[in-house]
Amino acid sequence: MIKVGVSGALGKMGKEVVSAVCNSQDFELVCAVDVIEIDTEICDGVRINGDLKGAIEIAKPDVMIDFTQPKNVFENTKICLENGVRPVIGTTGLTEEQLNTIKEMTEKNGLGCFIAPNFSTGAVLMMKFAQMAAKYFDNAEIIELHHNQKKDAPSGTAIKTAQMMAIENPNLAKGNCEETETIPGARGGVANSNIHIHSVRMPGYMASQEVVFGSAGQILSIRHDSVDRKCYMPGVLLAAKYISEHNEFVYGLDNIL
Ligand SMILES: NC(=O)c1ccc[n+]([C@@H]2O[C@H](COP(=O)([O-])OP(=O)(O)OC[C@H]3O[C@@H](n4cnc5c(N)ncnc54)[C@H](O)[C@@H]3O)[C@@H](O)[C@H]2O)c1
Repeated sequence: MIKVGVSGALGKMGKEVVSAVCNSQDFELVCAVDVIEIDTEICDGVRINGDLKGAIEIAKPDVMIDFTQPKNVFENTKICLENGVRPVIGTTGLTEEQLNTIKEMTEKNGLGCFIAPNFSTGAVLMMKFAQMAAKYFDNAEIIELHHNQKKDAPSGTAIKTAQMMAIENPNLAKGNCEETETIPGARGGVANSNIHIHSVRMPGYMASQEVVFGSAGQILSIRHDSVDRKCYMPGVLLAAKYISEHNEFVYGLDNIL
């Protein structure tokens, strides 16, 4: 049995992860961390601990799954790696510099660390298909649509998609005329390979992304919609199992599918 802790256990994703872990034969929930409702029982006698380091010292999890907040995730990941625990990070918002620091710490401490901006298998396929299409088109833009409580923009999935597409095509904005923005930001943020990313935030959406490609006389749209948070759970558990057995830094679920 793999001993698992969940950080952000009372959040929308955290609750799903707790339920998936508690219903799995391969995992045992040994601790749950959140900054609210401290000491509430969450599952099988496990109570909410407000202190990540303290929870690790008591429960000694093999793997800590983190779905907290962009502003806390870097510190949480460092605490895990400093205390011999393998992090599985779903929380988005880590910068390139922070990812590099985490990779170095993972290698130095001889541990494993799994970070994925999107744990849904369908979304990972959408990203792979977008990467495949990138080399056949002149232009591409990404529209990502999320619920209005999402704290970071653009989404980690959109950033990772642009990075993957850039490997196949270094300039996906060919032939555009010189542009001026009458309202600043109207053309979205510019990511790798000159790909413009547009972030929509409104109630009703959960997590969707559409990658639109264009070249003379044709448009291709590749779209994925997450309609229930359960779609992330097989990927989260797969990553937790993988990283409990491998001393590696892994960024992206696509690496183990
Ligand atoms: N990788 C993926 O596939 C994926 C999928 C969905 C959401 N996300 C990301 O996961 C994160 C969480 O999303 P959510 O919708 O569950 O958010 P949420 O706001 O519902 O939940 C976050 C939880 O973390 C808790 N928290 C905040 N700071 C904490 C800390 N320092 N220690 C412990 N707990 C802390 C909050 O109290 C809350 O219960 C976001 O960054 C979101 O973008 C990733």
